[in-house]
Parts: sequence; C-alpha cells; structure tokens
Amino acid sequence: MRKTVRATTPAVLACVAATLLTSIAAAAPAPGAPSAGDPYYPNAGNGGYDVAHYDIRLTYQPTTDVLSGTTTITATTTQELSRFNLDFGLRVSSVLVNNVAATFSANAAGDGELVVTPARPLAKGAPITVVVAYNDRPSTVKINGFTSWVKTADGALAVNEPEISSWWYPSNDHPTDKATFDVSVEVPDTVVALSNGNLVRTTKNRTGWTRWWWRSTQPQATYLTSLEIGKYEVNRQTTPEGKPFITAYGADLGDSLGAAKASIERTPEINEFLATQFGPYPFEAQGGVVTTAIGFALENQTRPVYGARGFIGGSNASLVAHENAHQWFGDSVAVGRWSDIWLNEGFATYAQYLWSEHVGEGTAAELAQYVYDSKPAADPFWQVLPGDPGADRQFDSAVYDRGAATVHALRTLVGDDKFFEILKTWQATRKGGTGRIEDFTALAERIAPGRPVRHLLKIWLYTAGKPTVGPNGPTVP
Ligand code: ARG
Ligand code: ZN
Repeated sequence: MRKTVRATTPAVLACVAATLLTSIAAAAPAPGAPSAGDPYYPNAGNGGYDVAHYDIRLTYQPTTDVLSGTTTITATTTQELSRFNLDFGLRVSSVLVNNVAATFSANAAGDGELVVTPARPLAKGAPITVVVAYNDRPSTVKINGFTSWVKTADGALAVNEPEISSWWYPSNDHPTDKATFDVSVEVPDTVVALSNGNLVRTTKNRTGWTRWWWRSTQPQATYLTSLEIGKYEVNRQTTPEGKPFITAYGADLGDSLGAAKASIERTPEINEFLATQFGPYPFEAQGGVVTTAIGFALENQTRPVYGARGFIGGSNASLVAHENAHQWFGDSVAVGRWSDIWLNEGFATYAQYLWSEHVGEGTAAELAQYVYDSKPAADPFWQVLPGDPGADRQFDSAVYDRGAATVHALRTLVGDDKFFEILKTWQATRKGGTGRIEDFTALAERIAPGRPVRHLLKIWLYTAGKPTVGPNGPTVP
C-alpha cells in the first residue's frame, strides 16, 4: 500500500487524499449499537455511550398501576453518534438530548429498544444529558414476550434478574455500564417507596402523597436497582460501623414475620463475618426488604429483597449470607457477560458453606462433598455447565451447587492461604467494576503458580459429566 502510494504521481496523490477525506467524513457519525454484544441477551445494553448517573423522578398510583415521570441520564459518548438506543418498554412522551427535543421510537418491535435520534449528531467523547418523560401501566407492558414488573394489591415490585429496568426506567441495561443513582418516587401516604442506598429524605408537596428520595453513591448495575412500593414496616437503624441499616417487612408476612426478622436483623453480623473472608464490605449501606410478592430473593445493591417464602420454614440466616455475599460477588464485582454467572452464584452459595462452618453447623468441606456424593453420575444435574449454562439455565441448581463445589475444589487445589488471597485480590482489584471467568482463572494462576488451576476449572465448569475427583481431592483431577 505505502509502496504504491510512493510511486504515484502528485496529481493522483491529491486525488487519493481527497477520496480518503471524503470517506472519513462519510463514515461518521454512525448509530450506536443496539446491543452490548452479550450472546445470552442480544437486546441488553447498547453501544456508543457510557452512563455516569441516573436521576429517576417518578410518581406511582397503586390503584391504577400508573407510573409517570422522568429519568435524566448523564453520559459520555464513546463515538460520534447519529442516533443511539436505550433499553425501555414503557410509553414515552418526549425525549430531550442536551435540552433539545429528539425524535424517538419506543419499543416499536416489542424488544424494549428506545431509539433516540438527536436533532444534531453528537460528538465523540462529549458529555450528554438525556431526559426521557414517560407514563404507562408497567404490568401491561411486554418486552420480548414477558413482563418483570409485579403489581401487588397495594403497590408494585421492580425486582428481577437479569432484566427489570426496562419496566420502570430507561437505561443502558448491562452490568458493564454501572452508574450512580438517585431514585425519587412519590406514592400515596398509605404506602412506602423503597429503593437502594441511603434514604436521603422524604418530602410532602401535596395532600395525601409522600415522595421518597433514595441515593446510591457507588457504581451500581441497572438490574440491581430496585423499587418496592406497598405497605411495609420500615426500620431505620445503624450498623456497628455506623452505616445506615434499613430493613422493611411487608405488612402481610403473617406467621413468617418473626423468622424473617430473626434472619435479616443479623445482616450486619453476617456481613462482618463475610468481610473477614472477602475483604471490606463494599457499600455505603446495608439492609433487607421482605415481600410476599416474589418467590425468590435478589441481591439488590445495599439492600437485598427476599421473597417471604424463604422464611416460611423458620429463620434462614443462610439465605441472608447468600444474598449479602453477592454484595461482593455480583454487585461490587459484576459479571462481564451473563455467561459468567458462576462468579455470582457459585461464590454466594459457597459463602453459605462458610457461614455454616462459622456457626458450627456443617463445614464447607462437608457441604461441598455432599453435593458431590448426593448426585449420581447419571443425574442430569451434571450435564449443566456452570461456566456457560446457557441463558435458559442461568439459575439452574448446578450453577449454584456444582458451582460452589467448584469453588471448594479450587480451595483444595491451592490451599487455604492462596484461596483466600485469590478471593480478596479479586475483590480489591475489581471493586466497582466487572470480571469474567477468564480473568478469575488468570488471577488464580498468578497467585498459585504451578498448580493446574485451568485444568481443574475446565473439568468443573466446562465439562459435562460428574468430575472423577471430588471437591476434597486428591487435589489433581
Ligand atoms: N441472584 C438470585 C439469587 O440470589 C437469583 C435470581 C433468580 N431470578 C429469578 N427471577 N428467579 O440466587
Ligand atoms: Zn444468588
């Protein structure tokens, strides 16, 4: 190429230069990608910008399920943009980009893509402000054929994984684009509105309504941002280290209220223990919300949300240990791709083993061995690959239990000192960001040189069938 150009006459060179200039000018600006490129969820996330902060300002009327208001997004472009996508399913009334009305198409294909075309193209590396105004009944909105918003008798719940934000605020919905959040929701006085982080204040501007102001000051993934509206007993306490400790118990918990409280009120003690295993608790607040409206629990940042059924059989500190272990594994260090879910569920489940041993129940070694011994080789359990389970098996029991046995097998292989050094280094170096299984493997290899870490993880995470060597060794599989 260079040689050809050198041999060319000046007249031809000028012509080539002109053509190059034209093609560079024509190549930009371009539309931002409609996807973060995650193979499990092709519609999740977008390209072309990086969000710094969401300011969500809403009003919710439980009797009609009408959610209305605005979300203001501050972001920085990462390319010259002719248009860009947000992930959102509700009906939009207006979009402003840098205070100028933009044209938009909202969830036109039912895939939760809000396509925004600003009046003028956006420069690369520029700060932008996007204000989306909307008004809809979220329980009636389907995205990719389903709904995640839960309408209850006296309120609603926006709690789900991996997709929930598109039912209540527009976002770049992928863990690789974390941001800080202000969530402000006005509800009737008869109910409360809960979200993540600290309760900054409550205000009253009109009779019969209260506005709740929540703030998350540390990077937070979109799916970990939650909203719970309804009748709750709200308790504002402080952890021994002086952080807000806010708990909320649904008014309809009935017989399970006692067990739920006995479990969740131990959150600071449990986090103190987990900090000895993983490093300092990563966030500015702690807490928990219990509701009868969902049948699972989720590790919402600073304040997990628990389905009441977790406490129907009695107190369950183990569940509290699981969801709070996610504050480290999942929240502070989030998955880089959804196929990396073992980094969340394997370690949160292993944290339950550590807690069990800590309180004098089964040891981690015993619990990991039980997973191995209780499932015969022919059990379909062993066919799910924790390292790449597929989108439809992301929360399969194998990701949790084989995943936790994998963590113990790694511990057996490298020994306790190096094992906990790996966990603490992983947390310290990736706090507030993301990680992939490959990154974790490389770190473990670096801290335990000469040990067959990669081989062990290949068998436990990526090979169908029951490993021939159990989680307690002999150490080399
Ligand atoms: N991460 C959650 C846990 O702690 C699981 C959420 C599963 N999602 C759902 N919609 N059931 O285990
Ligand atoms: Zn979990």
